[in-house]
Amino acid sequence: MLRYLKIRSPCIIGLILASLFIVCLLHHNLTTELSVRNSVAIIPNKSLESTSLLSSPRELLLLYEQEYSRVESTSFRPTFHNHHLTLKLNLTAIAIEYFDYFKNSSTKTTSALKITCLQSSKNRNNFRSICDIFLTFQIKILNSQKVQLTLLSKNTSCSVLLTNISDLILINVHQTFSIDDIFRFTHQWTNTNNKTELFWRSWPPTTTTCLKSLPCSLTNILTHSTSKELFLTEQNAVSYWLDLQYQVFINQRLSNERKKSVNNRNFVPYEIAKNPRVCSSEFQNWILDYQKWHENIMLNINNGSMTFEEQRNRIIELDVRFLIYEKHTSGLSDRIIHLISTYLVALLTKRLFIFDKNWPEFTEIMQSSLNYDQQLIIPWIEQLDLLNKNLTQNDRKYLTSKTEWFSSNRLLKDYDYDKLFPERILTFKGHTGGVIQTIHSNSSIYRKFLTIDLQMNTNNIFGCLYHSLFTYKLSELINRAPLTSSDLPVGHSSQLILQILLAPIFFPIGVQVRAGDETMNEQNIDQSNPEHIIGKYQNFLACIQQINMINEKLVDKTIRTPIVFLLSDSYEIRRAALKLKPLSLECYRLSEKECQLNYYDLHVLASPNPVFHVSNDTNRVLAFKLGMFDIFLFSLCEQHLISTESSFGRFPAFASLKQRNIYSLGLHELKSCKNDGLPLSAVGYQWSGI
Ligand SMILES: *[C@@H]1O[C@H](CO)[C@@H](O)[C@H](O)[C@H]1NC(C)=O
Ligand SMILES: *[C@@H]1O[C@H](CO)[C@@H](O)[C@H](O)[C@H]1NC(C)=O
Ligand SMILES: *[C@@H]1O[C@H](CO)[C@@H](O)[C@H](O)[C@H]1NC(C)=O
Ligand SMILES: *[C@@H]1O[C@H](CO)[C@@H](O)[C@H](O)[C@H]1NC(C)=O
Ligand SMILES: *[C@@H]1O[C@H](CO)[C@@H](O)[C@H](O)[C@H]1NC(C)=O
Ligand SMILES: *[C@@H]1O[C@H](CO)[C@@H](O)[C@H](O)[C@H]1NC(C)=O
Ligand SMILES: *[C@@H]1O[C@H](CO)[C@@H](O)[C@H](O)[C@H]1NC(C)=O
Ligand SMILES: *[C@@H]1O[C@H](CO)[C@@H](O)[C@H](O)[C@H]1NC(C)=O
Ligand SMILES: *[C@@H]1O[C@H](CO)[C@@H](O)[C@H](O)[C@H]1NC(C)=O
Ligand SMILES: *[C@@H]1O[C@H](CO)[C@@H](O)[C@H](O)[C@H]1NC(C)=O
Repeated sequence: MLRYLKIRSPCIIGLILASLFIVCLLHHNLTTELSVRNSVAIIPNKSLESTSLLSSPRELLLLYEQEYSRVESTSFRPTFHNHHLTLKLNLTAIAIEYFDYFKNSSTKTTSALKITCLQSSKNRNNFRSICDIFLTFQIKILNSQKVQLTLLSKNTSCSVLLTNISDLILINVHQTFSIDDIFRFTHQWTNTNNKTELFWRSWPPTTTTCLKSLPCSLTNILTHSTSKELFLTEQNAVSYWLDLQYQVFINQRLSNERKKSVNNRNFVPYEIAKNPRVCSSEFQNWILDYQKWHENIMLNINNGSMTFEEQRNRIIELDVRFLIYEKHTSGLSDRIIHLISTYLVALLTKRLFIFDKNWPEFTEIMQSSLNYDQQLIIPWIEQLDLLNKNLTQNDRKYLTSKTEWFSSNRLLKDYDYDKLFPERILTFKGHTGGVIQTIHSNSSIYRKFLTIDLQMNTNNIFGCLYHSLFTYKLSELINRAPLTSSDLPVGHSSQLILQILLAPIFFPIGVQVRAGDETMNEQNIDQSNPEHIIGKYQNFLACIQQINMINEKLVDKTIRTPIVFLLSDSYEIRRAALKLKPLSLECYRLSEKECQLNYYDLHVLASPNPVFHVSNDTNRVLAFKLGMFDIFLFSLCEQHLISTESSFGRFPAFASLKQRNIYSLGLHELKSCKNDGLPLSAVGYQWSGI
C-alpha cells in the first residue's frame, strides 16, 4: 500500500474505489447545488507505489524541485508541439558545460557548433538527417571560471526562424511534421571530431517514467504533443504534486491521533471542472469539438512553409474567421475577465481564437489547451494593410478586419456578434466582462443555447470556461511554493498556505480587501498599532463573524474549523491581522481531545510579503506571477468575501466553481452580512463584470 494512502481511513478509500464520486462532507444550504466531486484525479497510478515506498512525500517534493532546477539549467531543450519543431539553447549553460573545451582553445576567438536534427517515424527506427544548423560563436574568456558566448552568425540547411534574446537562442524549423515523427539530435564543435548525441530533460516529469529512478527524465528521443496533451499532462502532474503537498502537511503538522481521522485533500477547481455534474457533459463536448476544430484549422492554414498568398487562399477557401484577444494595460483581473469573455465569443461564433502576442509571461506560467500563438498562426497580421493594398474591398481575397473596444456597457448590452461584426479578422480589446450577461439576459440570443442545449448556468459558466482554456503549470507552483525549512516569524509561507487550503479540516473563507495601490508600498506602513489598523477594516471583520455565525449551523464544527485566507494589496493590514489573529497550527500537534481551535475566534492565514501591481514596470513579471498565485489560492477557498470595487477577488470566486453566493463590501461600507449574500448572477454585474 502506498505510504501516503495509509493515513486515509479505509472506509474512505473503499468509497473512492467503489464509486467514481464522493459527496463532500458539507451540506451547505447556501448553494443551490451540492458540490459533488470527481475523485478520479487523485487516485495515484499504481505504478507509483514502488516509488513512494522508497521516498517520503517530502523527499519526493524535493526531487521535483531538484529536477526542475536541472531542467532550468539545461543547455539544450527541444520541443515538438503542435507539429512544430523548436530548439532552445541556453548559452550560459553551454558555456558551463563546455568550459574545459573553450579554455583549451583559448587562442581561438570564434568556434562553430553544428547541430544535426534526425527524423524518423515512430514505427520505423531509421533516423535520417533533415537539417544541419551551424552556429558561430564569439568566445570570450572572462576569467578562470567563466566564458561568454555571443552568437555571431548562423547558416542552416533547412529554413528556420532564429530568435536570439539575451542568453537564449530559439530556433523554429519552418515545417510541419507528422504526429508520428520522432527526433534525435547530435552536436559537434566543428574543429573537433567528436560528434555526440544530445540528451535533455523532459518536463513535467510523468509519474510513471519519473521519480522511479533518477535521472528519470533524461532522454534523447523527442515525441509529439498537442497543446491539449500538454494541458492534461500539466494537470495530472500538478494533481500528484498537490497530493504530496497535502501528505507533507499531514506528516509534519498533525498528531498521530489526528492523522487517522483526516480525509483526502480538497479538490482544486480544475479537478472539480472535470465533473460532468459541475461542467455538463454537453459543455465538455462542445469544448472538445472546438479544440479539435481549432487544431485542424491551424494545421490547414499554416503548414509551416506556406507563403502568405497560399495561406490567404486557404483562409478564404475554408472561410476561417479570427478573434484576437488583446489584453488591457490595467490590472491582471481586468485582463482575465476580458480574456474569458472573448474566448466565449470565439466559441459561440466559431472563430479561431488567438492570444495576445505581447503577453509572454502569461504563456510562461499557464498552459493553454489551444494552440493560439499569434506569431505562429497569423504573423502577417501587422502588415494587413499592405497585404490588402492591391485589392478592392469587394474583392474576395480582401481580408476585412475590425478592432472593437469594450467598456462598461458590455455588462448590460446584448450582442449578436455575427451580425455586428461581419469582418473576418476581429480584435477585441477591453477591461470588462460579458459572460454573465450573455447567459443571463432574457434577450441574449445565446441564452437558450447556453442554458438549455449546454445545460449551463450563471454559477458554473465562467469557471468551466476558465478551466477549459488554461491551467496553472507545475513549474510555476514549484517556483511560488518552494519547500521551506522553517516557519516564518510572522505569517505563513506560501507552501504552508497552499497545504492548509488543501486540508478538509478547515473551512476557509477567502477575504479580499482592496485597500488601494498606495497601500502596496511597504515603506509607508505603521506597525506600531495593529489594533488601529485592523480597526479601519472593522466592517470586513464584522462581516466575517456574521458569516461564521450563519455557517455554524451548516459546518460540522468537530470536523472543520473556519479560517480566513486574507488577500490584500495592503501589506499593512495583512501584517496587522497576522500579528493579532494568526492561524496557529500548534494545537494540531496535540490529540483532538486536548485541543480544538475555538470556532468563534478569527484564524487568519495570509502571506506577510508585499505585493506589486502589474502595471508598474519595475516588477511587472513578478507582480503578475504573484498575482496569479494569489488567485489560485483564493480559488481554493470554500466561500468568498470580496471588495465590491475590484475584480481581483471576484473572478477567482467564479473560477473556484464552489457555486456559492458571495459577500461583497465597499472599503468603508457598513452593511450587514447576516444574510445569504449575493448570487453569482448579481455579482457578475458589479464593477467591471464577469
Ligand atoms: C499507469 O501507468 C501505466 C504504466 O506504468 C500506464 O500504462 C497506465 O496508463 C497508467 N494509468 C493511468 C491512469 O495513468
Ligand atoms: C540558462 O542556464 C543558466 C545556468 O545553467 C541558468 O541559470 C539560467 O536560468 C538559464 N536561462 C534561462 C533563460 O533558462
Ligand atoms: C586540453 O588540453 C590538454 C593539453 O593540451 C589536453 O590534454 C586535454 O585533453 C584538452 N582537453 C580537452 C577537453 O580538449
Ligand atoms: C545575438 O544577440 C547578441 C546580443 O544581444 C548580438 O550581439 C548578436 O549580434 C546577435 N546575433 C545574431 C546572429 O543575431
Ligand atoms: C556553414 O557554416 C559552417 C561552419 O562555419 C561551414 O563549415 C559550412 O560550410 C557552412 N555552410 C554553408 C552552406 O555555408
Ligand atoms: C566527446 O564529448 C563527450 C561529451 O561532450 C565527452 O564526454 C567525451 O569525453 C568526448 N570525447 C572525446 C574523445 O573528446
Ligand atoms: C505546405 O503547403 C504548400 C501550399 O499548399 C505546399 O506547396 C507545401 O508542399 C506544403 N508543405 C508541407 C510540408 O506540407
Ligand atoms: C501590389 O502591386 C504592386 C504593383 O503591381 C506590386 O509591386 C506589389 O508587390 C503588389 N503587392 C502585393 C501585396 O501584392
Ligand atoms: C427575465 O426572465 C425572468 C424569468 O423568466 C423574469 O423573472 C424576469 O422578469 C425577466 N426579465 C426581464 C427584464 O424581462
Ligand atoms: C513601482 O514599484 C516600485 C518598486 O516596488 C516603487 O518604488 C514605485 O513607487 C512604483 N511606482 C508606482 C508608480 O507605483
